[in-house]
Amino acid sequence: MDVLDAIKSTRAVRQFTDAPIPDDVLDKILRAALRAQSSKNTQPWELIVVRDRDTLVALSKLGDFMSHVAGAATCVAFVAPNEHPWVYFDLGQSAAYLQLAAHDLGIGSCLGAIYRPDEARHLLGVPAHLSLMAVVSLGYPSPTFKPATLGGRKPLTEKVHRDRFPACG
Ligand SMILES: Cc1cc2nc3c(=O)[nH]c(=O)nc-3n(C[C@H](O)[C@H](O)[C@H](O)COP(=O)(O)O)c2cc1C
Repeated sequence: MDVLDAIKSTRAVRQFTDAPIPDDVLDKILRAALRAQSSKNTQPWELIVVRDRDTLVALSKLGDFMSHVAGAATCVAFVAPNEHPWVYFDLGQSAAYLQLAAHDLGIGSCLGAIYRPDEARHLLGVPAHLSLMAVVSLGYPSPTFKPATLGGRKPLTEKVHRDRFPACG
């Protein structure tokens, strides 16, 4: 898939089939995540691939909008040192690469924001000095999948400013 087509067509997928993701396909997706740029090439991320159903279900309860994780074929938890705001910028890029690669390979994905990080760290054995704030669920989109009606993006004219931020008030 052309990169621009992938960017234009990707949508959050929250309903999945039961089909597992083959290891070689998952590896391609994970390699894309590791290919992301990062500040000073620090590559601060550690990725935990969760496939155990009980763990996925338990994880799905640790964010208020993470029910999609329970039905995913797998989910990838993003772990990183909690030391600098750039780290979160880096993690966002890695997650975006992972999601675009998944989309290219016909696999749907959705971010999940963890609201109870202490419990999530305990569940996945992550030490306290590392943060675990987000997961990405992955799976083949259910035939009944419909993109959320909330989708759509604001236009260039509203979000892009030329040379200076517009005067307020
Ligand atoms: C930082 C971040 C956190 C998100 N957290 C959640 C979440 O907890 N649950 C969820 O269902 N979607 C979550 N999403 C997905 C967004 O809701 C989704 O990307 C957005 O609504 C656009 O949807 P669309 O791809 O269908 O246009 C998150 C996305 C981001 C970038």
